[in-house]
Amino acid sequence: MSYNDTFIKACKKQEVDTLPVWYMRQAGRYDPAYRKIKEKYSLLEICQQPELAAEVTLLPVHKVGVDAAILYSDIMNPVASIGIDFDIVKNIGPVIHNPIKSSADVERLRPIQVEKDLSHIIKTIEILVGELQVPLITFAGAPFTIASYLIEGKPSKSYIRTKELMYNEPAVWFKLMDKLGDMVITYLKAHIAAGAKAVQLFDSWVGALSPKDFQYYVLPTITRIFAELKHLEQPKVYFPGVSSGELLPHLQQVAADVIGLDWRVSIAEGRQRLGSRFAVQGNMDPYILTAPMSVIKEQAKVIIDQGIKEPGYIFNFGHGLFPEASIDKLHELTEFVHSYSTAAIAA
Ligand code: CP3
Repeated sequence: MSYNDTFIKACKKQEVDTLPVWYMRQAGRYDPAYRKIKEKYSLLEICQQPELAAEVTLLPVHKVGVDAAILYSDIMNPVASIGIDFDIVKNIGPVIHNPIKSSADVERLRPIQVEKDLSHIIKTIEILVGELQVPLITFAGAPFTIASYLIEGKPSKSYIRTKELMYNEPAVWFKLMDKLGDMVITYLKAHIAAGAKAVQLFDSWVGALSPKDFQYYVLPTITRIFAELKHLEQPKVYFPGVSSGELLPHLQQVAADVIGLDWRVSIAEGRQRLGSRFAVQGNMDPYILTAPMSVIKEQAKVIIDQGIKEPGYIFNFGHGLFPEASIDKLHELTEFVHSYSTAAIAA
């Protein structure tokens, strides 16, 4: 099998014969083989064993037939290295033992030390890059999204504590954004040095902010992160997450190659809001997988027809896959996107 680089080409807005496909949260919670591994080990324990983390990363690549692998890890993992203790609790998500409450809590966050803190993840990346016939995407959580966990202490719907800190103690907020920005930059640079072929910044919850607050409180750090990575040839993806449609016109100075869209704006509308510099990725509602295959394919067609109008489109969902997703439907969807897009591009 020869190396499949359609994902990289699409990120760079080059022509492709077939659309590339991958799925956020594709690492197999819907896969019995994964669930068996999870009976023995927690997410963090898997991540500490490079051979096992590589195996879990590879599962969906083989079973679902996607055109990119995403490293098995979590957006929370690097915060352990900067001095935050957390668990990933089943059916809840990340729970922080020592949430950030004060200026002193932000002051004590330390920088990542690459050799000491990242040896497992670097080893995992090296194993994967040696084995994969598709590009390896690695990722980090963006500062707002990570901050929302560190401040709330657990997943939140309102982000009330996060906003309270942001509005009442802007100096502390910006110090936190700076420190998390530094964490992300060090972390992603180390991934790329280890061989990652592309990186994605997950800002899953930043759509909770108004465009004005996003621009003032968050965008400077996002801009700095991508400016720091700009000289590297590996494509960079920014995913502004759920309900991010109104933020899209404000991303002009962000030096990412690709922007991930959620399903509340169409691909055509997203492109219009972003301008022509960016490739786009997305944006099917993952819960469409509860529908019959005929409905899934009809919706996929609409997205693909818009996607192929210009080079620079990657098929994905608009948010992460849910654990109950059917692996058979996912596989069939991937094959459908490949076959339908090949015919449509050739036509
Ligand atoms: O995409 C992948 O398959 C690669 C691995 C990956 C995980 N988390 C593994 C994981 C990625 C890219 C993430 C990103 C992540 N983690 C995000 C951003 C993407 C998104 O969906 O918005 C966020 C917000 C988190 C934080 C997080 N981690 C939550 C909210 C949860 C629990 C809820 C849930 O979806 O299960 C986790 C746990 C987590 N991270 C699991 C996995 C496979 C489930 C743990 C398990 O299998 O028991």
